[in-house]
Amino acid sequence: MKKKIKLKEPKGKLGILMPGLGAVATTFIAGTIAVRKGIGKPIGSYSQMGTIRLGKRTENRNPFVKDFLPLTPLDDIVFGGWDVYKDNVYDAALNAGVLDKDLLNEIRPELESIKPMKAVFDKKYVKRLTGRHVKKAKTKMDLAKALMEDIENFKKENGCKRIVMIWCGSTEIYIRESDVHSSIRKLEKGMRENHKDIPPSMIYAYAAIKMGIPYANGAPNLSCDVQALIKLATKTGTPITGKDFKTGQTLMKTILAPGLKARSLGIRGWFSTNILGNRDGEVLDHPDNFKTKEVSKLGVLEQILEPEKHPDLYQDLYHKVRINYYPPHGDNKEGWDNLDIFGWLNYPMQIKIDFLCRDSILAAPIVLDLAIFLDLASRAGMSGIQEWLSFYWKSPQVREGLYPQHDIFKQFEKLKNTLRHIGGEELITHLGLDYYEE
Ligand SMILES: NC(=O)c1ccc[n+]([C@@H]2O[C@H](COP(=O)([O-])OP(=O)(O)OC[C@H]3O[C@@H](n4cnc5c(N)ncnc54)[C@H](O)[C@@H]3O)[C@@H](O)[C@H]2O)c1
Repeated sequence: MKKKIKLKEPKGKLGILMPGLGAVATTFIAGTIAVRKGIGKPIGSYSQMGTIRLGKRTENRNPFVKDFLPLTPLDDIVFGGWDVYKDNVYDAALNAGVLDKDLLNEIRPELESIKPMKAVFDKKYVKRLTGRHVKKAKTKMDLAKALMEDIENFKKENGCKRIVMIWCGSTEIYIRESDVHSSIRKLEKGMRENHKDIPPSMIYAYAAIKMGIPYANGAPNLSCDVQALIKLATKTGTPITGKDFKTGQTLMKTILAPGLKARSLGIRGWFSTNILGNRDGEVLDHPDNFKTKEVSKLGVLEQILEPEKHPDLYQDLYHKVRINYYPPHGDNKEGWDNLDIFGWLNYPMQIKIDFLCRDSILAAPIVLDLAIFLDLASRAGMSGIQEWLSFYWKSPQVREGLYPQHDIFKQFEKLKNTLRHIGGEELITHLGLDYYEE
């Protein structure tokens, strides 16, 4: 058996801090508290509900992940965050309209006690939001320092031993990685000089990574996905991961596309449209914010299908993604897909998917798993980009020069193998031949 890597025990409380206490964050917080109280199950969370095969099939070892590795127990989690609105988590959850009022009322005191800290925010980057619960400071570096102070205070007040930060804020406008993001020195200079290409999400990421706090980026904007912050993460020994939670439509796409490809079926067109009516939908209704999301959603098929290697099957693929703000749907998004596929001798067929999904219900367990696994990575001494967490992302962050892996089945194998590695178990490839004992 392999030697276990040195893993610190999860002693004491873990603080999960989220910039953005909107639909996703409040559904995650309320859900975790409900699970703690035994009034709900953490459906959708691999860390809480999943099992993992260890060793040979004949050994019959399939423990729950949480029994295999020392993960932080849900009872040891404390929640906090920042928002541009003053609403406490109870009011924000009511406003988001995802969870039933009856459920929220059962845990009302806990939710009311979580109040957002003042946000680092600038309307230039999220055009459809106007919040007043916002920090004021001369420079972006001063704002980062104010966030670090918030974190220190939160840690003290809540007796936390460890912190992780998950960006659950709105999607910012599209910004390309440029010179100011290329080194730690240039980024810090840019922050002192209020460079326009440093949006709030990057200031939060900087504050966290500088303090060695694991950071995940739930939105498609750059945030920690720039060279300066990747270098800083290595320097401070901080695990980072992103970007854009893989929920509704892209989840379906990365389940279906690898299957069609595995059977060498051709795809001529894939039209995806989303109809949603929550605040996220409103923000994404602005073309500059939609652009960020569109880039994140479009990359998926290209990587899975590899049209350059399979021109007969995919070279003419027409891929279109639309997001439509439609208030009556609220948080209950409709993800509608039309696929024009073809089979034997080019005979055409169609697949229609109408996924009536609940965005935040799918995103909440992802936030939990990311927090739990990032904390695990940190205790295992892992730092920099955590590609094994690609499973959770629409647009996985990868090291320079590598392409992201989008196929959900490959992502899942990588996730499980990394957990096996952390737990000192052999990696499993499922490649054993039937003739031999696996
Ligand atoms: N729900 C999903 O399935 C899903 C999937 C992928 C990505 N996302 C992304 O996750 C993020 C959150 O989604 P949501 O549905 O909760 O949106 P939401 O609009 O309900 O919540 C976002 C919250 O962030 C706050 N905010 C914006 N900028 C901020 C800042 N600089 N500092 C602090 N708070 C700030 C807003 O006031 C709002 O309360 C969005 O970026 C969304 O695109 C969501």
